[in-house]
Amino acid sequence: MANVKFFFGDDVPLEMHKVRIVQKLSLPNVDERLTYMREAGNNTFLLNNRDVFMDMLTDSGVNAMSDQQLAAMMIADDSYAGSETFTRLHNKLREIFGMEYFLPAHQGRAAENILSQTFVTPGSVVPMNFHFTTTKSHIVLNGGRVEEIVIPEGLEIESDYPFKGNTDIPRLRALIEAEGADKIAYVRLEAGTNLIGGQPYSLENMRQVREVCDQFGVLLVLDASLLADNLYFIKEREAACKDMTIRELTLEMARLSHIIYFSARKLGCARGGGICTDDQALYMKMRELVPLYEGFLTYGGMSVREMEAMTVGLEETMDEDMISQGPIFIEYMVNELKRRGVPVVTPAGGLGCHINAMGFLPHVPQNQYPAGALATALYIASGVRGMERGTLSEQRDENGVEPLSEMELLRLAMPRRVFTLSQVKYAIDRIHWLHENRAIVGGLKFVEEPRILRFFFGRLDPVSDWQERLVAKFKADLGDTL
Ligand code: F0G
Repeated sequence: MANVKFFFGDDVPLEMHKVRIVQKLSLPNVDERLTYMREAGNNTFLLNNRDVFMDMLTDSGVNAMSDQQLAAMMIADDSYAGSETFTRLHNKLREIFGMEYFLPAHQGRAAENILSQTFVTPGSVVPMNFHFTTTKSHIVLNGGRVEEIVIPEGLEIESDYPFKGNTDIPRLRALIEAEGADKIAYVRLEAGTNLIGGQPYSLENMRQVREVCDQFGVLLVLDASLLADNLYFIKEREAACKDMTIRELTLEMARLSHIIYFSARKLGCARGGGICTDDQALYMKMRELVPLYEGFLTYGGMSVREMEAMTVGLEETMDEDMISQGPIFIEYMVNELKRRGVPVVTPAGGLGCHINAMGFLPHVPQNQYPAGALATALYIASGVRGMERGTLSEQRDENGVEPLSEMELLRLAMPRRVFTLSQVKYAIDRIHWLHENRAIVGGLKFVEEPRILRFFFGRLDPVSDWQERLVAKFKADLGDTL
């Protein structure tokens, strides 16, 4: 985004790109939206995209590609082994991370599978600033345990703390002392911490994490899936890094990491993933799992076209104009909603705008899934599809007890370079209307509850006729508008 001051009116985000390929959208009317939501079992994962106006479910694999990325796809080299496409990608990763070795994988969770199988043993512990769903599943599957040691500010919904993704250093040290360094599989740091609202860590904090790792001789693994957002926030918010370029910041973070892995569905705006390291011994330990689970070492389950797009996307990630687009749009949305009294996670993070569903719907108990209920209400009110990140996304324990989530968030992801500002304004308007009418919105109950990953496939019903009443109020307030 450009630093352009407006002469008349408020400053608004100004895009440093133009749109050259478009996809037609449709906006079903409110009666149709109610029908589609019911057909989808009140689960936004089960909606058909043709019935969605703004798809804010995720930023994974749905960021817009640049003309350069699309052009690069045409020169992809399809050979099974030793393709030129791999060499170009490998060289780009060497350049931006300064790490010699690269193992390709079909997406981020495949990299997590390889890491967990290699380093996690029964009874081992993986301390981390915060977990991501797939990360935790792989660690637990291999007999390990996740310990979250994000600073207390990380779990505060409203804050002005700039680095809510920071690791609590004294707690990290105490944990390793208590467990014994030999039980620590590795320390994991997640850039742009996803589940607490896309919140960054500071470079200073990362240096301290590495110091602790060195003190105890344990590995530091960086999940760089949301690195682009984190880089932008460090540049914006960390005074000591003001004069560093994005490239220098990236190299410094890589220098502090023993291993970097990433989902290229996010980092690099393509589809794929991989693991980088500068340590030959670590590389050799992980290498054999790639042909076993992913594909040969020079494609790792990825399409070579996507790999070419990734190479260009990684280079474009070094451009501040490019990586600022998401955070600045998100900040605009967060600030506008806050101004209208809508409870949101602050400060604005990366990835998307996160609405605090417990604040929005205080009358809906957590076991009736306020964030899930809000996701259905927003779709009915607007055709905007968000993602529940709360109790519904948790899993029952062995005794069938449902853990209540620390936060109940409705995540409205902002895929990069996809929406226009007028579309974002529309979403803000409908969320505002919904907030004014929040008393109508009730909870949900499961009618079909899968044992694992219930948030993906589960089907629910509203606890009353609140959805019909919401539609009636929409028509009363807005007439026959879409
Ligand atoms: N790590 C982080 C921080 C992620 O956000 C994701 C995916 C993964 C790992 C796994 O990568 O999807 O390529 O296998 N996040 C997506 C999301 C799914 O919607 O936030 P993947």
